[in-house]
Amino acid sequence: LYGLAQAGGSAAAAPAPAAPQGQLVILYASQTGNAKGVAEAIKAQAEAKSIPVSLYSLADYKAKQLKKESHVLLITCTQGEGEPPESAVDLHGLLKSGKLGKLGDLKFAVLGLGDSSYEFFCQAGKDFDAFLTQAGAQRLIERGDLDVDYREAAAAWGEAALAKVAETLSAAPSAVAPAGVVAHGTSAYDKFNPFAATLLTNQKITGRDSTKDIRHIEISLEGSDLRYQPGDALGVWFDNDAALVAELLALAGLSGEEPVSVSGQSQPLKQALTQSLELTRLHAGFITGLAELSDDAGLKAIAADKAQSQALAAASQPVEVLKRFPVTLSAEQLVGLLRPLTPRMYSIASSQAEVEEEVHLTVGVVRYPQADGTLRSGGASSYLADRLAEGQSVRVFVEHNDNFRLPANPATPVIMVGPGTGIAPFRAFMQQREAQGDEGQNWLFFGNPHFTQDFLYQVEWQKYVKSGLLTRIDLAFSRDQAHKIYVQDRIRERGAELWQWLEQGAHFYVCGDANRMAKDVQDALLDVIAQHGGKDREAAQEYLNELRRAKRYQRDVY
Ligand code: 2AM
Repeated sequence: LYGLAQAGGSAAAAPAPAAPQGQLVILYASQTGNAKGVAEAIKAQAEAKSIPVSLYSLADYKAKQLKKESHVLLITCTQGEGEPPESAVDLHGLLKSGKLGKLGDLKFAVLGLGDSSYEFFCQAGKDFDAFLTQAGAQRLIERGDLDVDYREAAAAWGEAALAKVAETLSAAPSAVAPAGVVAHGTSAYDKFNPFAATLLTNQKITGRDSTKDIRHIEISLEGSDLRYQPGDALGVWFDNDAALVAELLALAGLSGEEPVSVSGQSQPLKQALTQSLELTRLHAGFITGLAELSDDAGLKAIAADKAQSQALAAASQPVEVLKRFPVTLSAEQLVGLLRPLTPRMYSIASSQAEVEEEVHLTVGVVRYPQADGTLRSGGASSYLADRLAEGQSVRVFVEHNDNFRLPANPATPVIMVGPGTGIAPFRAFMQQREAQGDEGQNWLFFGNPHFTQDFLYQVEWQKYVKSGLLTRIDLAFSRDQAHKIYVQDRIRERGAELWQWLEQGAHFYVCGDANRMAKDVQDALLDVIAQHGGKDREAAQEYLNELRRAKRYQRDVY
């Protein structure tokens, strides 16, 4: 496939200004901000080497521009079942279909970020690496597939990639183009330097008989200078449950006083287990690592089988595995098996135009029943719901998300699909639109199991309907009748009107479950476009792609 550089797509030259010859372009596709952070760090490394460099989110980058670049480093995370993150969907599709044509002049390297406890580990990075090679582009260095503790490996990969870039780049070092990144706010706080905020309110907003425990959380950001916009997320650091830490120490035969070093910090084991290590999520590496330290044939058999160890990892926590396969461990061995704790990201449920220095969240409390009948809790959600008292402090930071934004034009209609806790950003949207007096129409689709138990923020929506801010609300209470009714069913029922809204320029937003709901909603949307727009499947898909490119179809799914 090499040597065909001039083949595809020489049609009308795109008017966009080409990057200066011989400059490095760093592209990132981030979901929770990790890929963005890595991209920014590599940009700084490049600048330190006087390499001319520009940085773009794929959300702000025209796919066709890729044909004009000489050197690209692409940094991407992976979503749920191996999909690219939202901002990379367009480029991923274009490269996959070969529609971008040949990229024989391009030198590239791909860095994937992922989580090895998932089956499709770093799949988006693997895809991009394969697609770019397929298009005739030349790989500068081997792809990196990095796990959740990626920071040091990412810096090393960046050094290696930049060495190759410097070797092959023939530019005047003065031609530094402006970065494509918008600076946000001036707060000194970020992921690795979080703000000690105050928990103001923790209120259960599902009914006594609900199958779910969902909390409305209010946090004060006073004194932080932290600013956020509707669509942004709040990162929450948490402490593990003291009882869980004690149980793990007992199972491993340790006191907790043992000094250990975690992320370069020396501390007592108990403190590391409480604050710095992941105890509520299990990765397959824990199982394979434990099997090496154990004589148990059953455990060794599970560890040898990828599917089995992944299934066990998905269904349990480290303490469950240790209970089932007891091994006496040294403090270093235990720390070596565990991964660094990562903060949890929540879509923000408030607008600062309404709540000023507060930030609100809609938190579903994660609890898993275990095989032995006990209930295990998730990390941050049970910390916020059960362990943190109102008035106590919680370490937080803001993660900006320019891929989930209200329309710039206040008159543009919006359609919002947010079942379950996916409702959160739409509460922020409505607060913002009300505060600004935006005239655009607003349509909400919400779903949950039962009307009487699970109608989140019911009073607020009713108020907005009454005031006219909310033009339409369509509800799907899945278990209030014999057969399931979901938001996508309501979307299909209202297809004719929904099509009219789209034709009038409406933006379409989806927030919530990525694996099932968001896919089913997208299928419903495609059906509506096909049926009411009189299009075949392919034309409907192209219409949807155009919506996405125009940022009129935005998703925040997890
Ligand atoms: P269920 O749990 O009764 O099946 C929020 O979690 C709501 O989303 C619930 O009413 C839940 O219904 C529903 N839900 C479950 N699977 C879904 C899917 N594939 N698409 C849309 N909604 C779904």
